[in-house]
Amino acid sequence: MRVVSGIQPTGNLHLGNYLGAIRNWVRMQDSMKPGSTCLFFLADLHAISMPHDPAELRSGTLEMTAALVACGIDPAKSVLFNQAQVPAHAELQWLLNGTARMGWLNRMTQFKDKSGKNREGASIALFTYPVLQAADVLLYQATHVPVGDDQKQHLELARDIAQKFNNDFCSESAPVFTLPDPIVPPEAARIMSLRDGMAKMSKSDVSDMSRINLSDDADTIMKKVKKAKTDAEPLPSEKAGLGGRPEALNLVTIYAAVTGESIDQVLSRFGGEGFGRFKPALGELLVETISPISERFNALKQDRESLDAILARGAAKARELGGPTLNATYAALGLVRG
Ligand code: TYM
Repeated sequence: MRVVSGIQPTGNLHLGNYLGAIRNWVRMQDSMKPGSTCLFFLADLHAISMPHDPAELRSGTLEMTAALVACGIDPAKSVLFNQAQVPAHAELQWLLNGTARMGWLNRMTQFKDKSGKNREGASIALFTYPVLQAADVLLYQATHVPVGDDQKQHLELARDIAQKFNNDFCSESAPVFTLPDPIVPPEAARIMSLRDGMAKMSKSDVSDMSRINLSDDADTIMKKVKKAKTDAEPLPSEKAGLGGRPEALNLVTIYAAVTGESIDQVLSRFGGEGFGRFKPALGELLVETISPISERFNALKQDRESLDAILARGAAKARELGGPTLNATYAALGLVRG
């Protein structure tokens, strides 16, 4: 098993990232069998696809490293690094640009969402971003890629690119690339904004009240949960009763994802209750879950030297692991390299 996944080091690590992806990273890391490897990286090369501040990107990369370690990613068990220290990601992207099709990229919903009405003014990097993402996982022969629901389309594209490359340039008995499978948690694939149950919880939302950050203190978490948008109805006793109530569904989903229960199990306890009782219970649960993470995060983020050392060690290992696939790709394409 080869587990690979990444996160952009922009903004704060929030509850959607944690429940949708990072918690699964930690679980997969902790249940690895000998011979299997987990690689987790900060997608700093992806971050330059949108307008950004270089100083913030540098400190964001170190802070996100601290946040991942605080969540339980152990640099002694997993390979933890940032893309910019492993040039093979960018090299492989270029090699795969010959295989990726314009039509495939034109269908990517994230490009449409992020470029909005300003398509002509969007960066080329934003358009070709999914090819870099394909390179990120194909470079390491990833078999499993733990992600939230919003990344499934990018993973499908990675599979299409791998398949076409293998068909076009490899013999059937010696394909260069492995087709990766996305691993999406059934209960928390898409955590929604606390201000709008139809929008994804996101780092880029202008309102900090829309998300719970893993660095928030107890008072802030409680305040955000209490102010979360809801409706005036009491909670139903079964999931079907949450139809057409996206904000209520989101809060119950968060509760269920954190405790590991089903939505129906949560509703069997809270059905008939109003949000006046449910919100404080959810707030306390989140404080209990997040406080130990934010304490570790605050201690770790001060120690820039250790964080730099973690990334340097991880990058050295990643360069070693990615080397054979990069070489095989150059060779398959007939590129002469001395
Ligand atoms: P990013 O940085 O937006 O998010 C990191 C991970 O968190 C998940 N996620 C969510 N899950 C549930 N609910 C939400 N509201 C929510 N918001 C974010 C994302 O699905 C993701 O798993 N393009 C990627 C980074 C990336 C990557 C890769 C991932 C670059 N290369 C290769 C996997 C493999 C991104 O921007 O994720």
